[in-house]
Order: sequence, then C-alpha cells, then structure tokens
Amino acid sequence: MAKRTILSYPDPRLHTVAKPVQGVDARIKTLVADMLETMYDANGIGLAATQIDVHERLVVIDVSEDRDKPIVLINPEIVWASDDKVLNEEGCLSVPGIYDGVERSTSVRVTALDGEGEPQTIEAEGLLAVCIQHELDHLLGKVFVEYLSPLKRNRIKSKLLKQQREDQKLDQREGRR
Ligand code: NI
Repeated sequence: MAKRTILSYPDPRLHTVAKPVQGVDARIKTLVADMLETMYDANGIGLAATQIDVHERLVVIDVSEDRDKPIVLINPEIVWASDDKVLNEEGCLSVPGIYDGVERSTSVRVTALDGEGEPQTIEAEGLLAVCIQHELDHLLGKVFVEYLSPLKRNRIKSKLLKQQREDQKLDQREGRR
C-alpha cells in the first residue's frame, strides 16, 4: 500500500469527470488499499479517486467512530434521494481548513460494487448519506464549495492559493520538493 497525494482546491484536475471502472482487478484493489490508507492517514471520513488524480468512479468512506468500517463504492449510483433536506457543516480533504453549510438529502439509496466487485445496495441516512453525496459529487468534478455563494467561493480560493504559495516558499527554503 502507498499513501497518495491529495489534490487541493482550486486545482483544475478536481473538476475532471470520472469514467466507470472497467473491472475490479488487481490494479483497482491496490488503488482501493491506497485510497483507504490515504483517507485514514488524513483523518478523513471519505475520499474519491478524483482527489488523488485518478479519474475513475471509485470512492472510499468510513464514518465509524473506531475507523474500522471501511465502505468501498465502485461505480456508485444514487438510485433514490429523499426530498427531505438537511443543512450540514461540510469539510473536504481537498479544501483544508474550510467548513461551510451545504444542503443535502437526509437519506439516499446507492448501488455500487464493493471492493471485491460484488454488487451492493446501501440505504444511508445521517452522516453517511451526506458523505456519499459529497464523495459522488467529486466523481462528477464537483467540490462542495461550488454550492456556496460566488463571494464565499472566491474568498476560499484566494485564501487557499495564498496558503499554497506560502507552503511552496517554505518547501523551497527547506530544500524540499
Ligand atoms: Ni471532499
């Protein structure tokens, strides 16, 4: 297993639309293992392949308290979403340090293949439902800040770009790459 680099907003690659996974083979299983390692290492509750610059429909999630209940969604599709909506404070590993309110369906039903390539259907509510909707947006090239007002989004963009420039300077000064 290997930890992968997570793209940071506003990296344009985050807006790539992912293609379906063609088959759950050894390459995909390695990718799943890498994504789980990357997500746990970053203390995230979800990670989409898009975020590590792999543009295939693949998501990993773990909303359990003990971080021991990984969910793997390959070629996921939301087949039903409740009309009931709820406003949640969301964050994203690709938008570090930013949290803001996004309205989502309170419950969803999703079909997908699991990590072994077996079909599964998940009925989700609460945090899991929100997380599934957030991660599936990534596969469509959509980051949660796009639900916010243009004003807020531009502020976030400037803030993160400034932060990225400072990190780069620090890297150069310390001779890192
Ligand atoms: Ni995210």
